[in-house]
Amino acid sequence: MLNNKIIKLLPLMIMSSFLSLSASSAIASEQDISSTAQALKAAFNSSTAEEVEPKVTAVNVTEASFSCIRDMTPVRHFYVDNLLGDLDATLAVANAPKGATYPAGSVVQLVPTEVMVKREAGTFPATGDWEFFELQVNENGSTIAKRGFVDVNNRFDGNCFTCHAPAREQWDFICESDHGCDAIPIDHAMTGALQRSDPRCGEAVPESGDWLALFKLKAMVSIGLTKKWFEETF
Ligand code: HEC
Repeated sequence: MLNNKIIKLLPLMIMSSFLSLSASSAIASEQDISSTAQALKAAFNSSTAEEVEPKVTAVNVTEASFSCIRDMTPVRHFYVDNLLGDLDATLAVANAPKGATYPAGSVVQLVPTEVMVKREAGTFPATGDWEFFELQVNENGSTIAKRGFVDVNNRFDGNCFTCHAPAREQWDFICESDHGCDAIPIDHAMTGALQRSDPRCGEAVPESGDWLALFKLKAMVSIGLTKKWFEETF
């Protein structure tokens, strides 16, 4: 890179020293050479600075970033959005048959209370820059209960990042049903029912079977909590 630049600028350097020499001033010639060298150095520094530090747009995530899950864009059985406005780029990856890397700003949700947000490059190298969120939701909006990746767990006490990690290489941590993650005890009847009854959306829009799906889910969660309480107490 540097060599190429020097080779390109070499004729200029020779020309400029020749011109000043022909003006028969040895001192002027030295000055010209040193100013050409300085210009060369400045050009080199500015071009490396651009290459090493690409422009990074911050993805600011607050409670106001999250709202009714059904206002996002559906993809198969989950929803996506992009906080930086580049929904097309997010959708292209979500629909890529062989997987790809999600662009910064992408938001992915299967249920109202669990979110993955793709932060700006370099935020969390371990997770491919995904930040995991556990939300509490009600008709007034969302509260962030936990965020990050190290200690963010789902309602069955499983760690988001650890469980999503097997899908890392090809699918950029997106599990779906067959990307290698351990299964979750929630089927699509339950995730659909949770989406249709997100309290942030106003009135629920239930389909037949939703009541039973939610009932089963509540039972499983309470068994899970009881088990945890039992383990902690004894
Ligand atoms: C025990 C493993 C496990 C844990 C723990 C887990 N997930 Fe998942 N997650 C899955 C699986 C499997 C799916 C796909 C389910 C399906 O669609 O059939 C999924 C789906 C998702 C999706 C939809 C996109 C996708 O990957 O298919 C999001 C977003 C998500 N999980 C976020 C989270 C967050 C946030 C946490 C923690 C609060 C979490 N998950 C904890 C296994 C897990």
